[in-house]
Amino acid sequence: MTGRSSLTIVLAAGEGTRMRSSLPKVLHQVANQSLLAHVLAAAPKGAGSSLAVVVGPDREDVAVEARRCRADVATFIQRERLGTAHAVLAAREAIAAGAEDLLIAFGDTPLISAVTFERLRAPLKDGAALAVLGFRAQDPMGYGRLLVEGGQLVAIREQADASEVERTIDLCNAGVMAFAGNTALEVIETIGNANSKGEYYLTDAVEVIRGMGLTAAVIETDEDEVRGINTKAQLAEAEAIMQARLRKAALEAGVTIVAPETVHLSVDTVFGKDVMIEQYVVIGPGVSIADGAVIHAFSQLVQAEIGKNASVGPYARLRPGTSLGEGARIGNFVETKAARLEAGVKVNHLTYIGDSEIGAGANIGAGTITCNYDGFNKAKTIIGAGAFVGSNSSLVAPVRIGSGAYIGSGSVITRDVPDDALAVERNDVATKEGWGKRFRDKHAGLKKSK
Ligand code: UD1
Ligand code: MG
Repeated sequence: MTGRSSLTIVLAAGEGTRMRSSLPKVLHQVANQSLLAHVLAAAPKGAGSSLAVVVGPDREDVAVEARRCRADVATFIQRERLGTAHAVLAAREAIAAGAEDLLIAFGDTPLISAVTFERLRAPLKDGAALAVLGFRAQDPMGYGRLLVEGGQLVAIREQADASEVERTIDLCNAGVMAFAGNTALEVIETIGNANSKGEYYLTDAVEVIRGMGLTAAVIETDEDEVRGINTKAQLAEAEAIMQARLRKAALEAGVTIVAPETVHLSVDTVFGKDVMIEQYVVIGPGVSIADGAVIHAFSQLVQAEIGKNASVGPYARLRPGTSLGEGARIGNFVETKAARLEAGVKVNHLTYIGDSEIGAGANIGAGTITCNYDGFNKAKTIIGAGAFVGSNSSLVAPVRIGSGAYIGSGSVITRDVPDDALAVERNDVATKEGWGKRFRDKHAGLKKSK
């Protein structure tokens, strides 16, 4: 915290046509969170900090996502796409409120960190009118180049306007900038559009500031933090970087991940102590895994809460609303959805548990299906503590199985079963002595006579 007030404006009005998608660019996801949400999460927060997002016309979906991330965000519409400086001025009203630091970030740069925002604000305290985030690009093509003379940033030259010599510079503009609030509006309003694209470039702020006798500074960061996403290939690259970061953090926190490169995590995944993740596990949003739990290979978890020492998979699918109590076990080819399983419940094989509550210690046999949907409505299955559901049973919801009750294998249960009862729904076995032999003899005879 610098103690200075700040306004962060995130520009998200770009068309993103190179994504070849009907989804706006900034709503694409990395580690199961939108690009915009990543940037907003890194922006300064807390007392004295405010936030604005500039969206394109008819992009209420982007504004809704911004408000979902940070309730205090103000949204502004850039009606015509006339360049980055023009986009900033769409939020003129927010700038006029007079924060000490004005930070500008792009909505398509999801790998940026909160620490970098703070580093960028430091030169403003020392009197600079502008601090620009720079990086050494492996391939500078397309980026604005930072022109530095005698340790001073003197200009930013866009690719299209750069000379041959300027194009050899690898120090590039990341797009994130911090302006001193007292001169920001005057500087940005002075920017013209006399360049090859006829756009109002925010990058021209450097020359305006120099013309006013003020100074601009550069703060350098790693390229991996500022990769801008314009294409699906760049989205996949950012995903790979983010996954590597998340796995590293999980490993450092003590999670055992047998084959890290095969595991997908979400930005909000929460791990307890001594958790173990086997190969090829996909963890979607909203998952927490408590101490000592094991997620076996090839499992997928989304919005699920895994209790202490629970065990999941291999080959399990835990859908939204699943919660597993301490020591609960979900085995192979089991699917759960909106299901609360209390401590010690076992569902070990080939089962669907949906819209259900299962009491502690119950055992659900292989092939059990909770029939929760009649084509129109969903209904609940409640199974009491210690109940034993025999294999291949269908529990037709709404239905309640009492505590300590038994369900005979193969039953279709359509009515409630009292505590400690046995319910069996099954025809008597019809056994015909010698039938098998007679059948084979008859068919063998027919085959010969052909
Ligand atoms: C911009 C920078 C360039 C920098 C690069 C880093 C300028 C002029 N150029 O170029 O120096 O190296 O980013 O990735 O700033 N946007 C709007 N409204 C507009 C134009 C853009 O909201 O009218 C938004 C876009 O949604 C995007 C951001 O501003 O989030 C940057 O625009 P983009 O067109 O991607 O600029 P670049 O050519 O990448
Ligand atoms: Mg860009």
